[in-house]
Amino acid sequence: MPVITCIDDLKRLHRKRTPKMFYDYCESGSWTEQTFRENTSDFQKIRLKQRVAVDMTNRTLETEMIGQKVAMPVALAPVGLTGMQRADGEIKAAKAAEKFGVPFTLSTMSICSIEDVAEHTSAPFWFQLYTMKDQDYLRRLIERAKAAKCSALVITLDLQILGQRHMDLKNGLSAPPKLTPKVLADLATKWTWGLEMLGTKRRSFGNIVGHAKGVTDPSSLFSWTAEQFDPQLDWGKIEEIKKMWGGKVILKGVLDPEDAKMAAKVGCDAILVSNHGGRQLDGALSSIRMLDPILDAVGDEVEVHLDSGIRSGQDVLKAVSMGAKGTFIGRAFVHGLGAMGEEGVTRALEVIAKEMDISMALCGKRDIKDMGRGDLLIPEDFSGRWKD
Ligand code: GLV
Repeated sequence: MPVITCIDDLKRLHRKRTPKMFYDYCESGSWTEQTFRENTSDFQKIRLKQRVAVDMTNRTLETEMIGQKVAMPVALAPVGLTGMQRADGEIKAAKAAEKFGVPFTLSTMSICSIEDVAEHTSAPFWFQLYTMKDQDYLRRLIERAKAAKCSALVITLDLQILGQRHMDLKNGLSAPPKLTPKVLADLATKWTWGLEMLGTKRRSFGNIVGHAKGVTDPSSLFSWTAEQFDPQLDWGKIEEIKKMWGGKVILKGVLDPEDAKMAAKVGCDAILVSNHGGRQLDGALSSIRMLDPILDAVGDEVEVHLDSGIRSGQDVLKAVSMGAKGTFIGRAFVHGLGAMGEEGVTRALEVIAKEMDISMALCGKRDIKDMGRGDLLIPEDFSGRWKD
């Protein structure tokens, strides 16, 4: 059993054990990948303040996200095709999250369906929604999430059209993969993955196939998004979806203070500051850089969460100390899943919790809720000086 000390260890195993097409899908950003890179490198610019001679006993990372108790301020983000990283991947990740006591968010573009995940878990999970042109399908999707007792709807606002990730085109990304000679040569070195996949029936987009009409190639993310997603989404439609749902809502993909104000006005339980892990608008600023301006705009009115760039417990600690009430991890848990299945997701959560717990203690704090800006050193020009 390999010794796992950090998320990078899981990432290395993920790369070794998972077909290239799916590892690349996870690890890519759009176009030049500037935003993808800066999401992580900007976290490094923020520093933690070391304090000494304080009682470090009885520490806790427990807090709440949208009124729900969480073991630490980390939720699993919605990630498309998670069930291609490992057979039944969404079920495995949801089970690991449930045991750990953190929320799991199921993507619309998952392999396991809403019903599959509900059947294999007992804690309510969150459902991420893309807004669709087909109103009937959209309504049924929302009804299915309600029937599965999902406890929050995470509406993604930043993917009406798909940003281009070069590797996905070069690799011919599809679910299930098309068995070209190149893919077969790659699969020949990924035995466990292949055997596990043969043992499951879940190998295509579970929320779409058999549910959505008019998709010409249901195995292709590109045709599915191009044909189904609503490029005319506006705040009025978001309000309608909120009404249809009637429960807790997180608005995901907000990166601008003006949009944050609109999101707060429309009403939501949280805003998720995100640039989609650098997978959509390349050249946008990192999420952590945009956190402060968004907190200034709406921090008093609505809970602000953050994703994009979190690869360690220190990153979570920095975001939370700046004022985020919660964070989401995507790649960090997918590396765990691709490396070691459900156990790998648990390892990813353990790694992050341990890093957060020890770093918090070394900052002189015992309760995550007591961490604040006073525990950070933030460069004076961190939010940047930009000319509009
Ligand atoms: C979907 O959410 C993607 O980023 O591919």
